[in-house]
Amino acid sequence: MFEKVQIAPPDPILGLTETFKADPNPDKINLSVGVYKDATGKTPVLETVKEAERRILKQEDSKGYLPMTGEPVYCAQLQGLLFGEEHEIIASKRAATAQCPGGTGALRVVGDYLNFVHPDASIWLSDPTWANHNTIFEAAGLKCEKYAYRDPKTNGLDFDAMYESIKKIPQGDVILLHGCCHNPTGIDPTPEQWSKVGDLLAKQGVLPLVDFAYQGLANGIEEDREGLLELTKKVKQMFICSSFSKNFGLYRERTGALTVVGDDKKQADTVMSQVKLRIRYNYSNPPSHGGQIVAVVLSDKDLKAQWIEEVADIRERINEMRHLFVKTLKEKGVQQDFSSIIEQRGMFSFSGLTKDQVNRLRDEYSIYIVGSGRINVAGMTRDNMDRLCEAIKSVL
Ligand code: LMR
Repeated sequence: MFEKVQIAPPDPILGLTETFKADPNPDKINLSVGVYKDATGKTPVLETVKEAERRILKQEDSKGYLPMTGEPVYCAQLQGLLFGEEHEIIASKRAATAQCPGGTGALRVVGDYLNFVHPDASIWLSDPTWANHNTIFEAAGLKCEKYAYRDPKTNGLDFDAMYESIKKIPQGDVILLHGCCHNPTGIDPTPEQWSKVGDLLAKQGVLPLVDFAYQGLANGIEEDREGLLELTKKVKQMFICSSFSKNFGLYRERTGALTVVGDDKKQADTVMSQVKLRIRYNYSNPPSHGGQIVAVVLSDKDLKAQWIEEVADIRERINEMRHLFVKTLKEKGVQQDFSSIIEQRGMFSFSGLTKDQVNRLRDEYSIYIVGSGRINVAGMTRDNMDRLCEAIKSVL
């Protein structure tokens, strides 16, 4: 059976990390996968995560299965983070959440749900979007379409083009919006633009699916939900995929969730009953450890406050690297204008480097950037900045 199997192409993001690991150059720099590095180049375990793990180790008394929708305390805490604890959606219980293995797991589950319940619906993705969005939804049997997003001339949002292309989305289709820190561009709509998009989606009967993987990394935990909250004012039904990989540093613990918001509790619970079966047919029930950590931290007022500080440190370091990167390139005499990178938010920026330049950075300098030109700013440090900018200058 196996003789005729062809070797699969490498994954555009995780495949690069495999090549990076095998690269013997001691000065290699990995700016491909979206993983945060501190000033010393390490991916740290947060202090609050360590404290939660100590408490879990003492208290945990069973390794029995979680429910298909995961740990209820985790799901409730996640809703508080998404909407704010006092929000009407929470009070009226018209949101239902399932803990999922990472944001990717949540996206696949919602893909399976859509394919099962709305097999004719297409899903519309921003152009560009995270390299794995297309593949996840296609694997779930959905048709993927594109809506306009980035203006290559300004390296900013082309809102008019975005709005016009959303106008063409047929009723009953689904649109994926990035909650904040758009991956791969780092460019987000303003709250006013979110509100306009919400009006349009409501008018057209298009279902939003918000991929919310970077809460806290743009402007703050509360500030980063602004776009989502604008949307909830205009549209009653939506899905939200969450991830705690980045803001809790829980990458390998696969800690995410899928939330459905409905017109009322009955509707949300009905949709969740279908989601539950997609979970059962995929992986049965989620892994527990990451969810326990998040639940412990968010349920303790002091630990939560400390975590918010830790997220602020991550955000501030990334923003400092944005400034230093642009400044260092300028000091080295690079003519190309990279200044829009300062305005962008989250881990990523679109550098505008061509595929050839990206390949040269990898082959000649052991600097790894995603083929699209996406740079993980969170992988820059004061120590690797000079070498990075010198190499970019030479390939330009
Ligand atoms: C990324 O975009 O690099 C991250 O979300 C990690 C991944 O799984 O691709």
